[in-house]
Amino acid sequence: MKALEEKIIDASSLEALEKVRVEVFGKKGILTQEFAKLKDVPPAEKKDFAQNLNTLKEQLQALFDTHYATIKKLEIEQMLESQKIDVSLYSNISNKGSLHPLVETMDKIIDYFVALNFSVEVGPMVEDDFHNFEALNLPKNHPARDMQDTFFFADGKLLRTHTSPVQIHTMKKQQPPIRMIAPGCVFRRDYDITHTPMFNQIEGLVVDQKGVVSFANLKSILTDFLKYMFGDVDVRFRPSFFPFTEPSAEVDISCIFCKGEGCRVCSQTGWLEVLGCGIVDSNVFEAVGYKDVSGYAFGLGIERFAMLLHQIPDLRSLYEGDMRLLEQFR
Ligand code: DAH
Repeated sequence: MKALEEKIIDASSLEALEKVRVEVFGKKGILTQEFAKLKDVPPAEKKDFAQNLNTLKEQLQALFDTHYATIKKLEIEQMLESQKIDVSLYSNISNKGSLHPLVETMDKIIDYFVALNFSVEVGPMVEDDFHNFEALNLPKNHPARDMQDTFFFADGKLLRTHTSPVQIHTMKKQQPPIRMIAPGCVFRRDYDITHTPMFNQIEGLVVDQKGVVSFANLKSILTDFLKYMFGDVDVRFRPSFFPFTEPSAEVDISCIFCKGEGCRVCSQTGWLEVLGCGIVDSNVFEAVGYKDVSGYAFGLGIERFAMLLHQIPDLRSLYEGDMRLLEQFR
């Protein structure tokens, strides 16, 4: 009896206890062997023998259970202790993050215009027809509305397709002179290597008394801006069409990859189109109730700038959060 109790008490791990359990209580264990002896006991002593054995078994079982619980608790405590993280420990492994190339590009553009005293304006992403189209000289059924594949809501509201509506919001709440940019995300039903359903633009608008703002001002500020962004590039203005500006132009820079020689990125033209601009159409001023003013406006896609600056071939990779791409911008 004593020996069996000691066996149990001496087991100091769950593993050792399991061995003892098999040895003492198992099918071929000590207790089973003792019970087997019952058949050789003289009939008169059988009852006492069996009773004693049962009592012994119960006592041992109780001892085993208590000891098992104690050891188990101890092992859990030891495990918790050994796995505890010491947050005060010094570590020289530093996972410093960095700005996303898109944010960095956006900041760089904003910095430029803020330094030139432009204010930074924001507008809603859910727009109405008036701000996104009508006031920008895009009346209903105007063919230019087809240029943009719009996400509409059931109530006729829509996700803005460009940041140009922020022009309208700003002019309605403020009187000229205005010098503003409006960075923000815009939405179109598009998805391929150069289009995602959500992307970012920066809109620019300058309005002053009639005669103060000219196309020459627009040309000069955008030329300087593009040289600031892309270094020593040639800049050209090509006549184009936008409903909200007249005249309108698209602006190209000489290809930064082949220096104008012609390559795959510039489709062998030597030029990369980077923004749209123009002199604000008088219908836009009329829509916001401005009189005797003139102004210029421009708009550009930030993703395109980021892709060109960092030579990122697939626009969609800007939104995948792939560390292999992002870590290159540490
Ligand atoms: N809103 C135009 C677009 O999303 C970009 C644009 C072009 C804005 C010419 C302008 C502009 O203000 O004058 O494609």
